[in-house]
Amino acid sequence: MNFKNYIRNVSDFPEKGIVFKDITPLLQDSIALAAAKNALLQMLGDNTVDKVVGMESRGFFFAPMLAIDLNAGFVPVRKPGKLPFSKISETYSLEYGEDVLEMHSDAISKGDKVLIHDDVLATGGTASAVCKLVERLGGEIVQCNFLLELQFLNGAEKLAGYPIASLMKF
Ligand code: PRP
Ligand code: MG
Repeated sequence: MNFKNYIRNVSDFPEKGIVFKDITPLLQDSIALAAAKNALLQMLGDNTVDKVVGMESRGFFFAPMLAIDLNAGFVPVRKPGKLPFSKISETYSLEYGEDVLEMHSDAISKGDKVLIHDDVLATGGTASAVCKLVERLGGEIVQCNFLLELQFLNGAEKLAGYPIASLMKF
């Protein structure tokens, strides 16, 4: 299946001059949705996984589906102030300024094999912050996988040393 046929370009969103890659046409098509989930699993090969970590918000679309098929647990990484229990946090830089991501401190056990999933790899700031959270709890990152990678933003460089895989590259 050519998944790129299900990605819609939206000009001037969220700001003037930006062409946003909208994945909702893929999500709302029953065949494409299931095929994308299966293709993400295939990219993982034979690796076993204990936890799938997905980041708010758009990482939540696929990460729990992957977890079910992998017989793994699902771990949410959230924006500040959303998680109720004891947590760890990482600050990462955005184009302008900084942001923070949080994870519950009991979410990963030492030695857990972890798949990190998000919808988009852009600058890599989000995913590298999540890698740090996972490693601080003793998790072993098996792969970071993405529906789509915006290669011109060089996110792969920021994730050097981690196995990464993307279903689509632009
Ligand atoms: C988007 C996207 C990724 C991240 C990629 O999330 O869903 O999580 O940006 O960018 P990066 O590689 O430069 O860090 P966003 O923070 O816009 O929030 P959302 O998922 O809640 O829409
Ligand atoms: Mg996101």
